[in-house]
Amino acid sequence: MTNTYAIVLAAGQGTRMKSDLYKVMHPVCGKPMVEHVVDHIKGLGADKIVTIVGHGAEKVQDLLGESCSYAFQEEQLGTAHAVKQAEELLGGLEGTTIVVCGDTPLIKSETMEALVAHHRETGAKATILTAIAEDPTGYGRIIRDANGNVIRNVEHKDASQEEQQVKEINTGTYCFDNKALFASLKKVKNDNAQGEYYLPDVIGILQSEQETIAAYVTDDFSETIGVNDRVVLAQAEAAMRKRIAEKHMRNGVTIINPEQTYISVDAEIGRDTILQPGVMIEGRTIIGERCTIGPNSHIDNSIIGNETTIHSSVVRDSKIGSHTTVGPFAHIRPDSNLSDNVKIGNFVEVKKSILGEGSKVSHLSYIGDAQVGSHVNVGCGSITVNYDGKNKFQTIIEDDAFIGCNSNLVAPVTIGKGSFIAAGSTITKNVPESSLAIARTRQENKEGYISKLNLKKP
Ligand code: UD1
Ligand code: CA
Repeated sequence: MTNTYAIVLAAGQGTRMKSDLYKVMHPVCGKPMVEHVVDHIKGLGADKIVTIVGHGAEKVQDLLGESCSYAFQEEQLGTAHAVKQAEELLGGLEGTTIVVCGDTPLIKSETMEALVAHHRETGAKATILTAIAEDPTGYGRIIRDANGNVIRNVEHKDASQEEQQVKEINTGTYCFDNKALFASLKKVKNDNAQGEYYLPDVIGILQSEQETIAAYVTDDFSETIGVNDRVVLAQAEAAMRKRIAEKHMRNGVTIINPEQTYISVDAEIGRDTILQPGVMIEGRTIIGERCTIGPNSHIDNSIIGNETTIHSSVVRDSKIGSHTTVGPFAHIRPDSNLSDNVKIGNFVEVKKSILGEGSKVSHLSYIGDAQVGSHVNVGCGSITVNYDGKNKFQTIIEDDAFIGCNSNLVAPVTIGKGSFIAAGSTITKNVPESSLAIARTRQENKEGYISKLNLKKP
């Protein structure tokens, strides 16, 4: 959309959150609120997005980077005062400006588009996005006359008892004629219950100047939730969780219990994959088709192929191939790369390691800083001894090797292709190809020894 600008209000401390973290930085489904807002605004194709920063300015700027320009609001004197800070960047421009609060993470691009379209159709100087709230407590109210025309809007704290009964609320998203907006901002006063410069007062000012104002009602209140405290934060989280789950279900993913499944906004999941209850999928995770993600699995920032099963396990910053099984109760730590047809069984930890096609680590093992070839079998209780208290060292296990149970591979060490490590060995030297390595004391049997001990029968 040409000649369209956006302003995001993100300078407040968020006193009601009672938090050391600035309000707009609180995550909803794993992503800070203000980032959701800016992502959705990007969908509009605005010429410029200006974010008003104040509390935590640096953190917000680091997060949003070059996707926005920034204006600094030194003192938080109210939403009108916040918008005014964008004057230097936008003041002189002809066009339409959409203003969105950084604490409304659920607002969709489509709704903002509809708001702008309505604004243009009606030729209004200001259009306010409204919604009908079951419980409107805390929101500004929209007061209409008998013919349904908006006559004014009033903040909750300034509203009469009668006005507080009104369920139509100001969502905090507006569309303005850019020049009219900055001209009106100069006239906003702070003679109200909170002693603040209210942005919604611009509507009244334009009205008193006989300018056309309009309201666009969205039918989905949940989209306009403004997060002021942790109770509403949980409501926003639940609404977004539902939205994300429904998107994936519509794309062919089975989610056994959507209320108990947590999926980040940026996750991608292939069709016919099944998510069982308690699954958490975080970050930029990509899961292929026909996978089963078993109960209470936690997958963060990882890529998983097709037809893979992850059962009650934790996977972070790693890549897992197709037809692979992980768990139950396995921990795949960052920078691991498991190929296709790999099996990682119960109580196995893998860290910063590569496992080749068809390799198996089925029980109770630690594989860290290792390069494991294909078709390797690591027996129960085996450990790559990668740390001497100071430095980490690499273990290389070449293709087709067999590591007997309870072996210690003291790194740096290489186990040659097709070699066999006898159970219970502590390997400190490289093992050549196709060799058997035994590194344990020999067993000695002392026959008849027990009878010599003269032990009392119990
Ligand atoms: C605001 C609206 C209210 C609306 C509600 C919708 C005003 C006066 N009231 O109330 O009508 O129903 O949003 O959610 O606008 N901010 C700044 N600088 C400031 C003050 C606020 O950047 O000086 C930012 C905050 O960081 C926040 C946003 O503006 O992201 C809204 O401020 P907030 O204090 O949450 O306003 P509400 O009381 O929710
Ligand atoms: Ca708010």
